[in-house]
Amino acid sequence: MKLGVNIDHIAVLREARKINDPNPLDALSICKLAGADQITIHLREDRRHMHDDDAKNIISLSQLPINLECAIEPSMIDIACSLQPHRVTLVPEKRQEVTTEGGLAVTGDITRLQKAISRLHENGIEVSLFIDPDKKAIEASKELEVKWIEFHTGTYANIYAMAYSNLANSNHSIKELELPRKTLEQKLKDELDKISALSEYAYKLGLKVAAGHGLNYQNVQAIVDIKYIEELNIGQSIIARSVFTGLEKAILDMKSLIKR
Ligand code: PXP
Repeated sequence: MKLGVNIDHIAVLREARKINDPNPLDALSICKLAGADQITIHLREDRRHMHDDDAKNIISLSQLPINLECAIEPSMIDIACSLQPHRVTLVPEKRQEVTTEGGLAVTGDITRLQKAISRLHENGIEVSLFIDPDKKAIEASKELEVKWIEFHTGTYANIYAMAYSNLANSNHSIKELELPRKTLEQKLKDELDKISALSEYAYKLGLKVAAGHGLNYQNVQAIVDIKYIEELNIGQSIIARSVFTGLEKAILDMKSLIKR
């Protein structure tokens, strides 16, 4: 299982003060030393966390492959083409969201996706689509000829948090919290079964399958056990732990959990 470390959250901390500390660039050598396989960053249209200079410096200086997340907007695709990351993961973006709340509406946005993907391919950049675990979205991704899909695991992570009362990780509704533990555990099993079956389906169609969002030291194991998922992109939980343990140890801890 490969680990992509999402270092956006370092920029989130920096932007709390709007100075240049901590600098996400300083994370690159530590991620490499700790055995990360990839660095993931998200250049948002509003640049509220990562800035253009961050992306440019990270991509040009990193010894690890960079997975650049961005919206399907033509101006963002232009920037991605000029930055030349190893991979671009196309994600939905809403101005008001705190974080990426769900997968791309692939079937409803085929034309824009087609244009973005062919520009990226023409520029030699591999493409991943961040999608919900959904059969139609997988089939549409296959038709769009991308190499990768990444399943949004937010629903799984939220149910896990509700089932095991880890409210800090959940954007639950009160109504869902009232569900008995047994019902939540069944929902969790259903969600895992769905992710597992759909990752096998995608793999057999020839897609490479990644997963991410809301994965942490408590909930990651069941996702690691899914045979056809070959990469996880994890940010929040690793950077949160690094505040207490240091980044190298936080990555090493996650690496040991996801070892197969
Ligand atoms: N993968 C993608 C495509 C993302 O947009 C994000 C951030 O939302 C992540 C993985 C990592 O999520 P988290 O920070 O919750 O670990």
